[in-house]
Amino acid sequence: MHTRAMVLPTDSRIDLTVPTLAAHVPDYEDDIEKVLISEQEIQDCIRRLGDQISADYKGEDGLIRVGVLKGAFVVMADLARHVRLPIEFDFMAVSSYGVATKTSGVVRILKDLDHEIEGRNVLLVEDIVDSGLTLSYLLKNLRTRRPKSLEVCALMQKTDVQQVPLDIRYRGFEIPPVFIVGYGLDFGERFRNLPYVATLKPEAYEHLVQ
Ligand code: IMP
Ligand code: MG
Repeated sequence: MHTRAMVLPTDSRIDLTVPTLAAHVPDYEDDIEKVLISEQEIQDCIRRLGDQISADYKGEDGLIRVGVLKGAFVVMADLARHVRLPIEFDFMAVSSYGVATKTSGVVRILKDLDHEIEGRNVLLVEDIVDSGLTLSYLLKNLRTRRPKSLEVCALMQKTDVQQVPLDIRYRGFEIPPVFIVGYGLDFGERFRNLPYVATLKPEAYEHLVQ
């Protein structure tokens, strides 16, 4: 069963600013342009995805092993608490961005899984799919290890930028192709701890060195 993603408007005339931008991290506040997805919207979406995953994997023998990429640690932590099944965790850290805010297509494995996944149900959790290059590389890599099943849960997917056709079974939001931070996503390792997803002011890119 496939879940429907919430589609955010791409029309730039629509003001996506949330009226009250909570000063969650006062030091970051000056760099934030606008909130694209609020904390409440994210939490509602994570709950819906967790319900869907719990329903789909119910009765499956063998635990679900979840591989995760750096950046998705926040989604993982929240999603984990909405999956009401025995579940195991494993982490895979990759880096696809070099020094810029554009994907390079070069995927480096910084940390591989700790465990074998042969014969296991694997759900790969991603924070965001941009070009899709990272995900397609990882899926290809994990498939060679012969898991029983391999599905993807991505909180966000950027529209109009995907370079590789991908089947994302559990998807939260479709967002415009803009660079975003928060809820696990960083710019120069900052902003990951914001509870919402936001864009940065143009000046922020100049004074924040990646
Ligand atoms: P892709 O290979 O282009 O699909 O890039 C995927 C990865 O790049 C994600 O897992 C993120 O870690 C990172 N990424 C993509 N878009 C953004 C963004 O807007 N802000 C921060 N990181 C991003
Ligand atoms: Mg990522």
